Amino acid sequence: MDINGKTRLHGIIGMPVAHSLSPIMHNAAFAALGMNGVYVPMEVVDVGGAIAGLKQLGFIGVSVTVPHKVSVMEHLDWIDPVAARIGAVNTVAFEREPDGGTVVGRGYNTDWLGSNIAMERELQLRGARVLVIGAGGAAKAVGFGLKEVGAEVVLTNRTTERGQQLADQIGCDFIAGDRLAGVRADVLVNTTSVGMEPHTTAVPIDVQLLVNFSVVMDIVYAPLQTSLLREARERGCRTVDGLAMLQHQGACQFEIWTGEQPPAEVMRQALIQALHHS
Ligand code: ATR
Repeated sequence: MDINGKTRLHGIIGMPVAHSLSPIMHNAAFAALGMNGVYVPMEVVDVGGAIAGLKQLGFIGVSVTVPHKVSVMEHLDWIDPVAARIGAVNTVAFEREPDGGTVVGRGYNTDWLGSNIAMERELQLRGARVLVIGAGGAAKAVGFGLKEVGAEVVLTNRTTERGQQLADQIGCDFIAGDRLAGVRADVLVNTTSVGMEPHTTAVPIDVQLLVNFSVVMDIVYAPLQTSLLREARERGCRTVDGLAMLQHQGACQFEIWTGEQPPAEVMRQALIQALHHS
């Protein structure tokens, strides 16, 4: 990679960021398209200070990760309406106003787009019934995103109070974990960390119930083949792995920053290689 005076700057701000796979994914995309762009990890404590600094430094855009996805919003000049509904921003694009001096920070959320694209490769989401497991930040993006495209969402969560609260926000039904026996849906999606290394044998739902779903998606990507996905495949379900959401949320970011069609398959292969080497 040749960095010079015209290199367009991108990156990720969060705490920590050393483990992030986004630099590998985005730099592979710039290389594949022969673009003069770079994407760097930046550990940030003061998110407001970082946004002001990035504007001054001429950055094109940044990804935003834990713990800044909510707090970054008050430092931006415009928030995409769906990101505002979700209450979190994972993508910032900086635009220079025609006066040349003022830089505007625009906030988007591509997590919901990434999860929808990942699922839509297996079925049409409009009118589909989807059971979402979890009630954290990831569940919020996935749940709101599904409502956005006209899917029927049902939520379940280990802790009833938190699950019911998110279901009320999304405007969907909540079903407690011990009431899932008769529940059928087109898609089951796990948004919790259950099954993630090192606890790889854990599954977020009684595996006997997996026959009630056509498609099973996991947002956990380490390991790539989680116990949930393996059990689902053994019961004849189609499966979507955790890299799909990561890949497509990244591809949507790339498109926002560059206006170019993202090389989504290159981005996925870069992620797979990075996982093999980590
Ligand atoms: P994120 O923002 O990444 O989604 P989070 O806000 O910490 O993460 O939310 C984690 C989600 O995973 C929650 O729904 C949590 O369930 P609780 O609300 O009951 O805490 C769920 N979760 C985490 N560990 C779990 C486990 N061992 N079993 C079941 N659910 C779990």
